[in-house]
Amino acid sequence: MSNRLRLGVNIDHVATIRNARGGDHPDPVRAAQIVARCGGDGITAHLREDRRHIRDDDLRRIQDATDLPLNLEMAATEEMLAIALAHQPHAACIVPEKREERTTEGGLDAAGLHNQLAPIVSRLSDAGIRVSLFIEATERQLDAALRLGAPVVEFHTGEYAHATGEDRARILKQIADMSALAAKNGIEPHAGHGLTYENVQPIAAIPQLAELNIGHYLIGEAIFDGLEPAVLKMRELMDLAR
Ligand code: PXP
Repeated sequence: MSNRLRLGVNIDHVATIRNARGGDHPDPVRAAQIVARCGGDGITAHLREDRRHIRDDDLRRIQDATDLPLNLEMAATEEMLAIALAHQPHAACIVPEKREERTTEGGLDAAGLHNQLAPIVSRLSDAGIRVSLFIEATERQLDAALRLGAPVVEFHTGEYAHATGEDRARILKQIADMSALAAKNGIEPHAGHGLTYENVQPIAAIPQLAELNIGHYLIGEAIFDGLEPAVLKMRELMDLAR
């Protein structure tokens, strides 16, 4: 199916549970292997500055354990750039990062941070790493991504996920419009954050979207149903929406 929407599974929160006890269990590598086995299209992991979930050695272990492309979420810092260049993930998604936040709360200000981002985007691109910018679905941010030469943008769906009624419909339209505009300009649009069985389908139905990255909800469902059934169910909902 040419219009198949890829599912990248974010396994950060397997590591969150592991780190709660400071040992090796549960191992995010095992989660990555299950995702590979049941038809996930990629593994996403966010190496945060404070290493609250994924740790440096997890990256190499994940890369060694599966053939799935690794999408490394990273802040635009020299430290993370050096790690990305050393690990050569398939893709690097640049995200804003605040130490005190619980999760990535908003999109990257690609417009305001142009000068800080430009050298990072070009050094990642020169190394053959596919750069994605995690932005809000606005024309200003999309223009900035174009100016930075990013081949991919990931639209932040957190606000959509939390909204209801007319607000949700308005934000959905904004994401759909910006996905169309991105594709028209040669940028591959992705989306992610806060997606669940309940809210994924209107997003999955946006025809230009090429990939969704989903983590927290899937790992939560995996506690009750197992990771493989959770990934398969999300996959099925996404396919039904296309
Ligand atoms: N995409 C990006 C860029 C993210 O930062 C995150 C959260 O780490 C996700 C997708 C996944 O979000 P969630 O865990 O809410 O599904």
